[in-house]
Amino acid sequence: MSSTVHLMSLFLLLFSTLMVSLAHPSSDFGFGWGGGSYNSLSPNFYDFSCPQANGIVHFVLVKAIVKDPRMAASLLRLHFHDCFVQGCDASVLLDDSATIVSEKGATPNVNSLRGFEVIDEIKAMLEEACPGVVSCADILALAARSATFLSGGPLWELPLGRRDSKTANLKLANDSIPSPFFNIQTLVAFFKKQGLDETDLVALSGGHTIGMARCSTVKKRLYSQKGNPPDVFLEKAYLNELRSVCPLSGGDNNTSPLDYATPRAFDNSYFKLILGGRGLLGSDQALWSGNESRVMSLVQAYAEDRALFFSQFAKSMVKMGSMKPLLGSNGEIRKNCRRVN
Ligand code: HEM
Ligand SMILES: *[C@@H]1O[C@H](CO)[C@@H](O)[C@H](O)[C@H]1NC(C)=O
Ligand SMILES: *[C@@H]1O[C@H](CO)[C@@H](O)[C@H](O)[C@H]1NC(C)=O
Ligand SMILES: *[C@@H]1O[C@H](CO)[C@@H](O)[C@H](O)[C@H]1NC(C)=O
Repeated sequence: MSSTVHLMSLFLLLFSTLMVSLAHPSSDFGFGWGGGSYNSLSPNFYDFSCPQANGIVHFVLVKAIVKDPRMAASLLRLHFHDCFVQGCDASVLLDDSATIVSEKGATPNVNSLRGFEVIDEIKAMLEEACPGVVSCADILALAARSATFLSGGPLWELPLGRRDSKTANLKLANDSIPSPFFNIQTLVAFFKKQGLDETDLVALSGGHTIGMARCSTVKKRLYSQKGNPPDVFLEKAYLNELRSVCPLSGGDNNTSPLDYATPRAFDNSYFKLILGGRGLLGSDQALWSGNESRVMSLVQAYAEDRALFFSQFAKSMVKMGSMKPLLGSNGEIRKNCRRVN
């Protein structure tokens, strides 16, 4: 434990140094004052209005991950489930109310999404430091970046200035977030609908290098269904291992790592596992076993070259994180991420 904490503080130190240099790029990005009207995202958005924003997000995350190592994965996923439903607007964070039907009840989210309390804690600290300035949507993007980096993954320059929605859309969450039972063609189609291509699909699926899935998600692959054998693409020893965690009856809330080789490390072992039939979800294995040659060659390339995966993951995260942001005077800056102002 204490060595973990040490490692974390080292990361934090390194991170702050990097952040200072990232905050002052030599590029010609516009300077954002925050809160004003602004028609595009910018890495400098909070430089004057809330320079502590990234530091506060990172500080709360370090604490949260020391307490619960899985939290890094849970926060990375939260940003993804936000962005795929009416853009990256923190719609996923809204609770049920008189005017809101929460996305938290959607099939891909219910009993599965985690990390809402950590976002609340970050938001509370930011409201103390810079009231009414930092959006919940930007908190999700910053948290996903810190979570990746703290797990050993890449760091990237992050465009900011998203505003928060006044609406949520449970049906759209049901219909837009891909299912783990999809084949490769449907996965590609769902990403295309969001403006993301095969390269983004494969790189972003690499987010499954950390985190867990429930047996209820996995079980269909493990046992015969209506006379069909277990998933033929599952490697036999891994299949038996999974059956011991996920018995035929019961244990639906038991969990298994998405990358059982290095469950907490953000690395490229997810892709190596897929090459050997050890992808946990059907949608993971489909990247290799689905026989889409373009997708397969990307899986192979990332399995062989960690640096290549890291740089594409960073690019695809920026692309996903920039989907349909609310800008200017659209939306609002929520005071509490769980409800509209
Ligand atoms: C390609 C389509 C995707 C599908 C079908 C999919 C599906 C899933 C499923 C079913 C789970 C487990 C949920 C549970 O059993 O409770 C999961 C977990 C996770 N997903 Fe995905 N996902 C996809 C893409 C992504 C992307 C793009 C990211 C982020 C870049 C991501 C990050 C994660 C993480 C980190 C976890 C673990 C969360 C935790 O441990 O709390 N996934 N995903
Ligand atoms: C699994 O956990 C959820 C809460 O996260 C609970 O509602 C459900 O009853 C649990 N299912 C089983 C089979 O224990
Ligand atoms: C969401 O999906 C679940 C099951 O797939 C279904 O029971 C529910 O009615 C759906 N809700 C909406 C609004 O589509
Ligand atoms: C992919 O091709 C292999 C070898 O021809 C075949 O065994 C497998 O069933 C194919 N996969 C799918 C999803 O059709």
